[in-house]
Amino acid sequence: MKQYKMASLFAGIGGIDYGFEQAGVIPVWANEVDKYCAITFTLNHKKTKLIVDDICNIKGKDIPKIDILSAGFPCQPFSIAGYRKGFQDNRGNMFRQIMRLIDEMEKNNNKPRILFLENVKNLKTHDNGHTFDIIRSELEKRKYIVKEKILNTCEYGNVPQNRERILIVCFLNASDSQNFDWENICKIKLTNTIEKVVDWNADVDKKYLYEKNKSCYQLLKKNITEHNTIYQYRRVYVRANKTGVCPTLTANMGMGGHNVPLILDNKNRIRKLLPRECLLLQGFPKDMIIPKELCDSRVYKQAGNAVSVPVIKRVAEEIVKAMKETDLIYEDNKL
Ligand SMILES: C[S@@+](CC[C@H](N)C(=O)[O-])C[C@H]1O[C@@H](n2cnc3c(N)ncnc32)[C@H](O)[C@@H]1O
Repeated sequence: MKQYKMASLFAGIGGIDYGFEQAGVIPVWANEVDKYCAITFTLNHKKTKLIVDDICNIKGKDIPKIDILSAGFPCQPFSIAGYRKGFQDNRGNMFRQIMRLIDEMEKNNNKPRILFLENVKNLKTHDNGHTFDIIRSELEKRKYIVKEKILNTCEYGNVPQNRERILIVCFLNASDSQNFDWENICKIKLTNTIEKVVDWNADVDKKYLYEKNKSCYQLLKKNITEHNTIYQYRRVYVRANKTGVCPTLTANMGMGGHNVPLILDNKNRIRKLLPRECLLLQGFPKDMIIPKELCDSRVYKQAGNAVSVPVIKRVAEEIVKAMKETDLIYEDNKL
């Protein structure tokens, strides 16, 4: 049976690529502008051709023959924490770049059969739904059938992180769309708990510890009292995550380290989650290589910007199943 091929835009460190690869898709090509992400990507996705450049410089003809195009496009303009500017913000135009590439690929007879988009959940409600209406209508203009759903990592990925993201699957082929059903991707029990992912006994480097010499130490000590809980330090207060999962990891973990979640370890020391633990809380493989030359802040940012791999894998499996069903009927009809 045919193995489908994919290309990814805004590839970051390749979270979406991992998810699709685990579902049997071959990631052949990717684009990412950030040279530090590129280091991590290249080390871990050796068979994928990565073009390190601004998407504005990429042409449709640069992208090889593929079945699936993915784009976890920059979410800042749409997130509540962002500037609420949507398409007025220049970064919002990244969606337009995706549409430009689809048009150019169509001219090259390489229009993706599936377009897979990922973003923050607020994309759906931004500007009273107007932003999403524009996105849907641009996709429909290009004859895509759009099916979207918001999934939380801790409910659908068996990974203990609270992370709600909108996943938009666009089908060029009506049969693929009919074969795909979000209902087949049901909630699953969270057995992979924070106790399993975070090492409360780890012997960590001093740089991850909050000790007496830090100005915030007293505030942290007063509030961080429980083991097996993940805390967030919000400059003037500390929030305990009572739900037993890690709060949403964000890209700004890379800025000054203030947003890196904290724990009280088994030696009663307050420490930040390690970069490796953040990657595991996104469901990246345990053997994923963290480049030695990258400082922690870069890795924290990369983890916060990424997707939860097991959630993508489940959706990718449903997409592949839908495509295979279509192809089988097509093969049968040819006989
Ligand atoms: C939300 S992250 C996507 C993460 C990725 N899906 C993953 O799984 O790791 C968005 C990515 O878009 C990249 N990006 C932003 N502007 C870009 C541009 N103009 N051209 C290419 N990539 C860009 C950023 O560097 C960032 O890595």
